[in-house]
Amino acid sequence: MKNYFSLFIFLLILSGCTNPAGRTWMIPVTIDPADLDYSPSSMESFEERRSQLIDSLGNSFVILRSASQCSANRHEFRPNNYFYYLTGYADRGSYAILSQDPNQSYCLSAPPQNMRMQIYDGKVLDVQEIMEKYRPDRTVSYREVRALIDSIVKTGANIYMDRSDRTFLRDLQEMAGEEGSTQFKHIGKLVDELRVIKEPMEVEYMQKACNITAMALTNVMKECKAAMYEFEMEAVIEGTFLEYGSAMPGFNSIVGSGPNSTTLHYEPNKRLMEDGDLLLMDVGAEYGYYTADITRTIPVNGKFSSEQRSIYQLVLEAQKAAIEQMIPDHMFTDANDTVTAVINRGLTELGLITDPESDWQVSFYTLHGTSHFLGMDVHDVGRYHERELEPGMVITIEPGIYFREKALEQAQEMFKKDADSTEIAEFVEQIRPVYEQYINIGVRIEDDILVTTGGNINLSRYAPKEIEDIEQIMR
Ligand code: GLY
Ligand code: MN
Ligand code: MN
Repeated sequence: MKNYFSLFIFLLILSGCTNPAGRTWMIPVTIDPADLDYSPSSMESFEERRSQLIDSLGNSFVILRSASQCSANRHEFRPNNYFYYLTGYADRGSYAILSQDPNQSYCLSAPPQNMRMQIYDGKVLDVQEIMEKYRPDRTVSYREVRALIDSIVKTGANIYMDRSDRTFLRDLQEMAGEEGSTQFKHIGKLVDELRVIKEPMEVEYMQKACNITAMALTNVMKECKAAMYEFEMEAVIEGTFLEYGSAMPGFNSIVGSGPNSTTLHYEPNKRLMEDGDLLLMDVGAEYGYYTADITRTIPVNGKFSSEQRSIYQLVLEAQKAAIEQMIPDHMFTDANDTVTAVINRGLTELGLITDPESDWQVSFYTLHGTSHFLGMDVHDVGRYHERELEPGMVITIEPGIYFREKALEQAQEMFKKDADSTEIAEFVEQIRPVYEQYINIGVRIEDDILVTTGGNINLSRYAPKEIEDIEQIMR
């Protein structure tokens, strides 16, 4: 028994799953893509969403299609978010029509059934299978659906459709003809508020997306060293996504080292990393069409310099303080207010802000807002402003501080609406000697927070972010 216990500890140490402080890096993620399989019980959620939507439709119709933007040989198929959110159905080339007409309140079109497509793309569901699995009131064939849509458009009734599917609007307008009185409205007006509050099934997918992403970031911490390329780290990240059943990232991976850590949406990911660089990774696996959005910043050589450490600690302190605020009845904007206050104080102490009352001086370093909703879209739908937090919302908390090489030269242009040129010039000259010590340091730390009745849960909690933990894993 004793021997087995020693062997277990030895194997844990060998596998990098534990550190001397006794903290484990066991991330609870398994390869079980069966959790993405069709299940009859999950159809109840989609049915409930449709029923809420149909109640608010009046005489209007909803027309959606599964996707249009599948460019041949470049991207894997993925259904449009509104279509999937309301149907749970993900075959390409399908249409959904919703209305208050009791005979056809939910009509789904079957995808083309021809043999040639089956030879290339595999079997698709036939009409009978679609009726049984997805429970529309009626199904129309791919050939019939165009005529049906055409007849609805020609009635002049208002139509809710997905305006983010841009070619679809053009197609529908063509059907309506020049004289058509149809107004095409965005489906988001009716659905976005439903999407803001996540159901348990959605949270489960987001938790798994976060766990896979946490595993990917931890794997980079184990692999990263100087003289490797950013894209090698991207390969570790996206390879881990695939390894755990995430078909694709929820957005383009941002993997920026050294100066690139200060470019907010840097995507080329092709620089050779150097000793002394920071590496900022803003990445997210998608799972069940829900995405994670996690940022971690690590020292390429495994040890933060004193300048990197002081900025990192400040961003981390601001982030933790903001996460504490993300509880019901607090405001969405409390996160940004908290981050701004903490960073303002910290940068003033470091001699990088000369007037703590000035909003623009903090913005000089922080550059972007702190939060957005997260879900099927990385910047998910829903109204952000003047909004109280409610259980079921998932929001990111992502403060950052950036020391861009050109920032001192660009300060006049950036803040000409906020301050006069003398004030900006004095600021630049006063901070310059300190600023120069920090150039090319970009730190962002981003977690995904589920607001709950009693407080909140950090869905990305398994991605290490304490300095000692990161340095320990990288050792
Ligand atoms: N990954 C984009 C963002 O954090 O908003
Ligand atoms: Mn992000
Ligand atoms: Mn984000």
